[in-house]
Amino acid sequence: MRRKIIAGNWKMNKTPSEAVELINTLKPLVANEDVDVVFCVPAISIIPAVEAVKGSNIEIGAENMYFEESGAYTGEIAPNMLVDAGVKYVIIGHSERREYFAETDETVNKKVLKAFEHGITPIICCGESLTQREQGITIDWIRQQIKIAFLNVTAEQAKTAVIAYEPIWAIGTGKVATTEQAEEVCKAIRDCICEIYDEATAEAIRIQYGGSVSADSAPELFAQPDIDGGLVGGASLKPDFGKIVNYNK
Ligand code: 13P
Repeated sequence: MRRKIIAGNWKMNKTPSEAVELINTLKPLVANEDVDVVFCVPAISIIPAVEAVKGSNIEIGAENMYFEESGAYTGEIAPNMLVDAGVKYVIIGHSERREYFAETDETVNKKVLKAFEHGITPIICCGESLTQREQGITIDWIRQQIKIAFLNVTAEQAKTAVIAYEPIWAIGTGKVATTEQAEEVCKAIRDCICEIYDEATAEAIRIQYGGSVSADSAPELFAQPDIDGGLVGGASLKPDFGKIVNYNK
């Protein structure tokens, strides 16, 4: 039985002091022993956030990471910096990074390999645009993203990875994918992992749905056989996140 993982992606929101305040508000609300809970916060808030979640069930994640160890990469953050700060997860290849910061499947793969090398669990994002969905190429597109993201990743590493399926048209739009649409793609992702590796890896890997997840939509989405939780944007900044995490209560 895979353990659910529900992560908040704070994106570019909250100052460091606001982050601590929000964590203190959410801490009692997101207690749920059945679920792994992760807050992915802006880099500048990681250190105070790690301090603020001490003694709770919340782990802190980063929203991005560079694929080199150190050096002349102004503005970037190295994997060992995240590890030293107490980060356990890192979002890789979010569609906003692909769209605004020129990330590609190839850079996603480099970052995924680096994250594993440093013992950080990658939350690997994939998802189609509305045009791609309307053209009927969603599954082909996602399979390509997954195959490149996992190049040279071992089965043992892949078993511990998290994949977030986030249809771009559902992000921040209030337009959540139907349960059937979300499950269909998450199942196709699991099948793809099975093809690349084997049944055991496909059974172990955790696949989240993301895109306008709310307290209303979470219970049905997370009850699907291939959906192991969610990557939540807007609603992760509100007390509603407690309801999403406690979708099973
Ligand atoms: P929303 O939940 O705000 O649609 O954002 C989803 C997302 O991009 C999470 O990574």
